[in-house]
Amino acid sequence: MGNVTIVGAQWGDEGKGKIVDYLAREADVIVRFNGGNNAGHTVVIGEEKFIFHLIPSGITHPQVKCVIGNGVVIDSLVLIKELENLKAKGVDVKERLFISNRAHLIMPYHKTIDILREERKGAKKIGTTGRGIGPAYEDKIGRRGIRVYELLKSELFKEHLKEVLEEKNAYITKVLGGEELDFQKIYDEYMKVGEIIAPFIKDASSYLKKWINERKKIIFEGAQGFMLDIDHGTYPYVTSSNTIPAEVAIGAGVPPDSIGTILGVSKAYTTRVGGGPFPTELFDATGQLLRDRGNEYGSTTGRPRRCGWFDIPALKKAVDIAGLNGIIITKLDVLSELDKIAICTGYTLNGKKIEEYPPDVNELSMVQPEYEILPGWKCSLSGISSYESLPKEAQNYLRRIEELTNVEIYGVSVGAERSAFILRKNPFIS
Ligand code: GDP
Ligand code: IMO
Ligand code: MG
Repeated sequence: MGNVTIVGAQWGDEGKGKIVDYLAREADVIVRFNGGNNAGHTVVIGEEKFIFHLIPSGITHPQVKCVIGNGVVIDSLVLIKELENLKAKGVDVKERLFISNRAHLIMPYHKTIDILREERKGAKKIGTTGRGIGPAYEDKIGRRGIRVYELLKSELFKEHLKEVLEEKNAYITKVLGGEELDFQKIYDEYMKVGEIIAPFIKDASSYLKKWINERKKIIFEGAQGFMLDIDHGTYPYVTSSNTIPAEVAIGAGVPPDSIGTILGVSKAYTTRVGGGPFPTELFDATGQLLRDRGNEYGSTTGRPRRCGWFDIPALKKAVDIAGLNGIIITKLDVLSELDKIAICTGYTLNGKKIEEYPPDVNELSMVQPEYEILPGWKCSLSGISSYESLPKEAQNYLRRIEELTNVEIYGVSVGAERSAFILRKNPFIS
């Protein structure tokens, strides 16, 4: 028995929330370790839909404890809204939610800076979620971030906020041409927030150590996806944290050998939201069909997602660097209407085959994908609950993905609802 790490293997929104929720039935603890409320993880249970931005996706399972690790940047106002939503839906988080006292806070000036900078960039904008993620991580690395435990120490918080806000206001007004933010308003708001979340603020990694020693089953829930990783993704069109499993140890505060089985979640096609290169992007009716059938609109910002074919070179990169032990394919049902399905098996640039994934986004935006065409299955996958019952063309498509990546498929999702999932291999016992 071991732990399981779930990460996105593409550009985010692969369906990680659904998979974490599915596996959570067997788990004791779920931990978020990176990103912030740029994430939107959807869980559909019957008629009910939950979109989690900060709270781990397994929270609706009453036996599960949920941790927001030190590597997460927390907009406490968003967190409070999430807590209110859960309460309204009858989910009790008392004594089940642990927020790391070392996590950094997203402050109102982070959001302001994120939005104003994007506006200034115009066509060159990254297409961030506008949630203040980049500026908050910058302050963490710049050693001027405000951490969660400071909410419990009003004098310390006051002093720290005063010092930082002075600098931020100068930058916002003089460089970005924005409006100054009011100290007292922020202070009062955050002190109120501190009171509400105080019972959940803990030394999260010491609880995790205890649970690891007790051999509890832990799921580490990644946000974003491999290609959005700050080091290994399509820089600068990435997020501001590491999204790969190596980040679990740092962002949760656990030894690296607790990561367990690593599963990468990938759609049966590819999507991306925001700017940046996307070699297999489709601008035609098939792209629109994927968007419509897959309901490809962002869970956090509502933006339409760019859609394209499955990209093996990109996934292989994720397999190698993230160290994926297996993959989970989601949204296979979205392809059901298609006569033919393409898989990108490689890229060429100026007629020459590319062997290494280019670090330069300008180069990556010019590559030509090489495709292998497979027949579609042209029937609904609704209600299919075993791998063997999938149409043979669908099995063939999945087998081809396994062959090309050299990684085993652990599970296949055939609908948004919790039960529309085929578990082929249990990651807790592999
Ligand atoms: P995450 O950020 O990786 O958790 O993914 P999102 O929640 O942002 O986006 C995935 C979307 O696809 C959500 O709306 C899910 O409800 C939906 N979804 C997940 N798995 C499936 C599936 O197998 N089929 C279909 N049709 N929808 C799915
Ligand atoms: P989940 O966890 C998809 C993208 C943004 C933008 C870039 C930088 O739901 O898969 P940021 O706000 O992080 O500075 O934006 O990263 N992005 C995501 N795309 N899913 C996500 O999270 C994302 N989080 C950030 O669209 O291109
Ligand atoms: Mg999402």
